[in-house]
Amino acid sequence: MDILLTKDEYNQYAALCECGMRTVLTRVENLRQEAELTGVRNPYATIQNRIKSYDSVAEKIARRDMNFDKAALRQLHDIAGIRIITLYKDDIYRIRDALVRQPSIELLEERDYVANPKENGYRSLHLIVSVHVYFRETTRSVPVEIQIRTKAMDLWASIEHDCNYKNDTPCPAAPDTFAKLARILEDFDSNAIDIRDRSGAD
Ligand code: GTP
Ligand code: MG
Repeated sequence: MDILLTKDEYNQYAALCECGMRTVLTRVENLRQEAELTGVRNPYATIQNRIKSYDSVAEKIARRDMNFDKAALRQLHDIAGIRIITLYKDDIYRIRDALVRQPSIELLEERDYVANPKENGYRSLHLIVSVHVYFRETTRSVPVEIQIRTKAMDLWASIEHDCNYKNDTPCPAAPDTFAKLARILEDFDSNAIDIRDRSGAD
């Protein structure tokens, strides 16, 4: 891989992505406030965000066997990332719908690993959205990755990430264990909805 982009040039592009991320975060916060005002249970348990570092982008571009240049950057849609963690599985789709119905948020891509989990058991709904950003006297479209998952899905992903994800030497016999944990947590998520519905919490 040839590195044709300096850290400074990357930071300029990342700043643009950060503006887009803030726009989406504001929309999410507005939805959270709306839920509080209407008195319904708030589906937004936790909201996290991050901007990918230069090193992590360089690593990803190298993995894809590309040169680290402006063209490669435009192919990455996860420089800005937001993660929304919910209590219940059906909240995932409520949040998705509430976001993508907004006229200024354009849905570019959707990967539903909740309906179609990855082979290892990973579950989460991934959206790539595009928002307009007014920056340096021009308006540009910026992609933002949004991951929406339950606490149980997040627990699984955190542990699997710690042990395995992109790890060259994953722990032995882990795949079976992770698949088993994924099944347990999937069952947990279904039971949680049953309990909620029977308790009249929603
Ligand atoms: P990346 O190169 O990681 O960005 O993957 P991708 O662009 O092919 O997209 P994908 O939708 O598969 O994954 C995007 C993000 O989802 C990752 O950066 C992780 O945060 C999360 N993710 C995807 N698969 C897994 C997984 O198997 N385990 C864990 N822990 N996280 C995952
Ligand atoms: Mg990605």
